[in-house]
Amino acid sequence: MDRREFVEVCAVGGGSLAATLAGTAWAADAKPRSYGRVQLLDDLGKPLKATQLKPQTNYVFHYPFEATPVFLLDLGKPATPTALATRDKQAYQWPGGVGPKRSLVAFSAICAHKLVYPTKELSFISFRKGAAVNPQTPSKGNDLIHCCADHSQYDPARGAQVLSGPAEQPLCAVLIEHDAKTDGLVAVGTLGGELFDDFFKKYEMKLSLEAGPNAKQAVARSAVVRELDQFCRNPVRC
Ligand code: FES
Repeated sequence: MDRREFVEVCAVGGGSLAATLAGTAWAADAKPRSYGRVQLLDDLGKPLKATQLKPQTNYVFHYPFEATPVFLLDLGKPATPTALATRDKQAYQWPGGVGPKRSLVAFSAICAHKLVYPTKELSFISFRKGAAVNPQTPSKGNDLIHCCADHSQYDPARGAQVLSGPAEQPLCAVLIEHDAKTDGLVAVGTLGGELFDDFFKKYEMKLSLEAGPNAKQAVARSAVVRELDQFCRNPVRC
């Protein structure tokens, strides 16, 4: 890691995230990006506790921008650090899950293929407990994030690496910290192939209707976490 990257790592999450990452063998191209610390809240507006999360259930919050959705998952099993690369071949080391079981993970919910994402009306992409059932595209494993648009499958226990389908890179990781004292969760940055510029360009009109004039505004201080089935009226299963 060169000096600039080290500074970026430290800037992302202060001491605790830097301590987490210090034990990880970083690839040369790894560049975590800081977007500020955002406390995750439950749907009553109180700090979310990790123990409130149902295992293997889709939760959604928005980060780092008001209109960019993120999946938050308790996988129910440890997620170990994984070496990955973006489509332009930038290597990075996903640090794995956080929390007592290292089972808590978060990824941008924008599909790395054609930027399908969950809205309040419809979602083609989500985590599937067990094997996704689709006659055209058999599941490459259990407990994957599956995009029904063109059947890309991502493994959330391995940094959302691509297991099948046309996606050319993992879902962008959202870096989260777990506070062992309070059981709270804070989003601190991203790692991997960001697609936010493409996303805002592709959906500019749609996002202005969905999220209003603040769609591109950075989320400040806190973000509400909702179960996907409550956030979205039609979560598609394929
Ligand atoms: S948009 Fe997700 S697989 Fe094509």
